[in-house]
Formats: sequence, structure tokens, C-alpha cells
Amino acid sequence: YDERTFVMVKPDGVQRSLIGEIISRFEHRGLKLVGAKALQLDEELAKTHYSEHEGKPFFEGLIDFITSGPVFAMVWEGKDATRQVRRMVGATDPAEAAPGTIRGDHGLDLGRNVIHASDHEDEGANEREIAVFFDEEELLDYEQAT
Ligand code: CMP
Repeated sequence: YDERTFVMVKPDGVQRSLIGEIISRFEHRGLKLVGAKALQLDEELAKTHYSEHEGKPFFEGLIDFITSGPVFAMVWEGKDATRQVRRMVGATDPAEAAPGTIRGDHGLDLGRNVIHASDHEDEGANEREIAVFFDEEELLDYEQAT
């Protein structure tokens, strides 16, 4: 199959009813949704997902925030999906994110930046993050009309 990438609407995005808006953007871009679930992260899962940031000054705040309410985790598939999704998501800091990107249009600040997406500059981050949230049998294999 094409490349898969991991995307998660954060608690601020879920609370502000942005799940549909975000799904629409990826659908319209031609990416294929192969997995999705709403869940509440516990501290252990949050720390596993964000382990690369352990020890950084914002780590504890990040864990508190990401466990503060439900998230919506997804797997999107497509050619060069990780890089494509990152381009649509925009810069980490919404103040720096270009207009037209998800964070540029909806993000409030560094913490409340609406969405997480796998880093395309971190080789294998996409599949590592997918495996934290999804069992392989939860992911769909189907043909998308083009
Ligand atoms: P995300 O792409 O989910 O990856 C780590 C998150 O840490 C990032 O988005 C931000 O929401 C959050 N964060 C908070 N403070 C910082 C910071 N100073 N630098 C980078 N990320 C930060």
C-alpha cells in the first residue's frame, strides 16, 4: 500500500468541534482514511506517544494537556502521506503557521495547536506512532474511487 501516517486531533480541537473540518481537508486532498478512533489518553499512553520530548521543559504540560480530554486518532494513507499531511497541518506554533494550514487557520498557541501529525523528517515516526494507537487488524484495506 501507499505510505500511511498518524494524525491526532488534540483535546482543544475535539472541544472546538474541529474533527469534521479536519477530516474534510484530508478527504478533499485525496488521502484515504484507513483507521480512526476517539479515545481518552491515560498518562502512560501519552508518555509513550511523546517519549521523544521527555525531559524537555514543556513535557509535563504537554502530557497534562493531551490527557485533559478526548482525542481523535486517525491513520491516513496516500502517496507521500506524511509529508503531505505535515504541509497541510502547518508549523508547530500557530503564530508561525501559514494561513490556509490547519494550525494557521485554527490554532491558538503552541499547546493548543489543534492537531498532531507524524514528523516527516523523523524516519519511521509515522509507523511507530500508528503502532502506539492501533493494532494492525484495526486498519482498513480498501480501494478508493479516484
Ligand atoms: P506536536 O506536533 O503534537 O508535538 C509536540 C507538541 O508539544 C507540539 O505539537 C506542541 O503542541 C507542544 N509544545 C508545547 N511547547 C512547545 C515548545 N516550546 N516547542 C515545541 N513544541 C511544544
